Amino acid sequence: MTHTHPHAAHRNHRRQDDADDQAEILDLEAEVLATHTATIVGWLPIEASPRRIVDLGCGTGAGTFALLARFPEAHVTAVDSSTAHLQRLREKACAEGVDERVRTVQADLDVSRPDLGTPDLVWASASMHHMADPDRVLRTVRDMLAPGGLFALVEPAGFPRFLPENAPEDRPDLEERCHAVSDRFHTERVPHRGADWGSKLTAAGFTVEGERTFAVNVEGSRDEAVGRYALGSLHRIRDAVVDALSAEDLAALDRLLDTDGPHGILHRDDLAVRTERTVWAARRDN
Ligand SMILES: C[S@@+](CC[C@H](N)C(=O)[O-])C[C@H]1O[C@@H](n2cnc3c(N)ncnc32)[C@H](O)[C@@H]1O
Repeated sequence: MTHTHPHAAHRNHRRQDDADDQAEILDLEAEVLATHTATIVGWLPIEASPRRIVDLGCGTGAGTFALLARFPEAHVTAVDSSTAHLQRLREKACAEGVDERVRTVQADLDVSRPDLGTPDLVWASASMHHMADPDRVLRTVRDMLAPGGLFALVEPAGFPRFLPENAPEDRPDLEERCHAVSDRFHTERVPHRGADWGSKLTAAGFTVEGERTFAVNVEGSRDEAVGRYALGSLHRIRDAVVDALSAEDLAALDRLLDTDGPHGILHRDDLAVRTERTVWAARRDN
């Protein structure tokens, strides 16, 4: 019988809770941005439909399912360090009847280099900036791609905004101040956010064939998932800013997060998801 130290058990629960929270937000984000993701996939400079696709840092499958839908003859190898995310992705693939076209590979790309075959297309969305050494991972992508293969690198411009300008009424521009604090927090912990990916791709042996920034503006009045996505995202931002935000701002943030209170974000009819995502389409130099 194995004994788990109570602190270790608490840590493990906490990690599991974090993974569940992140998985839920990734699923909501995938739902809210589905049309937008399909637009990015449709923009890629692809002549012949790819057969072998790799989704690096696939999360719960936002990219995987968009790619499977766009390229009906393709198989996707979905790679992530999180077994919980991969499990969720697999359940969704089964539910959608596409599980035979999906292979999941658990790997921490910072420490291992799994055999992912020779894909025609590699997709990495919102994952590359999490890598400890993204230059090394970019070279790995270059080496694995089939000759002439394409790498689609997608990176978000920070966290989305949900509230209109000057909101909430009791603490105008609260979201802006939360973002300023959380940006500082993430600059220390996720230093490759906002890196110059075009230069990095060129240095890794790619030719960048196209780069495009897509604006996102999804109104909550037309999509009820926006409120739940905003709520989950602001909870995560709270975790990052709790120690640095003023007491008045923290109280206002908690009023927004209080789903029973009159100021709760779910009661608002003026929410929207506003952000930008940039995609680089990079061809392997032969
Ligand atoms: C912000 S999520 C993006 C998920 C998905 N690509 C999407 O667009 O919804 C980043 C993902 O990268 C994964 N990730 C981060 N570092 C990683 C690493 N070193 N190796 C493999 N996966 C990693 C995380 O587990 C997470 O699922």
